[in-house]
Amino acid sequence: MNAVVIYESIYGNTRAVAEAIADGLGGAETAPVPQAGERIEDADLIVVGGPTHMHGLTTSRSRRMAADAAREDGRTGLAAGASAERGLRHWLRDLPGRDGAWAAAFDTRLDRSPMLTGAAARGIARRLRHHGYEVVATESFLVEDSEGPLQDGELERARNWGTELARRLERGPDAESGPTGVRARPSSERGPDAQSGSAG
Ligand SMILES: Cc1cc2nc3c(=O)[nH]c(=O)nc-3n(C[C@H](O)[C@H](O)[C@H](O)COP(=O)(O)O)c2cc1C
Repeated sequence: MNAVVIYESIYGNTRAVAEAIADGLGGAETAPVPQAGERIEDADLIVVGGPTHMHGLTTSRSRRMAADAAREDGRTGLAAGASAERGLRHWLRDLPGRDGAWAAAFDTRLDRSPMLTGAAARGIARRLRHHGYEVVATESFLVEDSEGPLQDGELERARNWGTELARRLERGPDAESGPTGVRARPSSERGPDAQSGSAG
């Protein structure tokens, strides 16, 4: 299976999750949004993720706010393009349609009810479906505080999610749901679409 993990990340937490998912998928490629370009053309599966900002996908304003906050804290080493005008939202808007191609969506967010935090994965999944993708899984991975770090065990959970995703797709996208919420068909009952549960 040729899988690519596309991500946006300001502070590096979503990037770490993306790399763990790629590892779990069996060594898939990862690419930050500005470099995603043509890499997705031949992919059997694209996995797309980003941080939750203001209950949804980042905006150029929220990315600037994130970058400013980090600078105020004296933090260096922000992801390249962290405050770029064009982020994941734009990338998804311009994504070429691919009817029936497989996709999965993930986000990072705070560990509270998704009703309070929102979950970027919901908006990512909706946009992927809009472009004809079959979204087979959505998931949230949790940070301790606004700038991170990830909670203990989240990288392992991300790796397992990637592995389960690969297994599910080998069996075919219509098979029964796997133990980590990787599923055949989009559903509003699990993952970050769910309206209760901390990790979705
Ligand atoms: C401007 C801004 C808005 C945020 N809004 C939310 C939010 O609505 N819900 C939430 O759970 N986390 C929110 N967060 C925390 C982010 O989800 C967290 O920074 C992100 O998961 C870290 O990912 P990254 O390291 O890849 O940038 C916000 C953070 C920033 C900087």
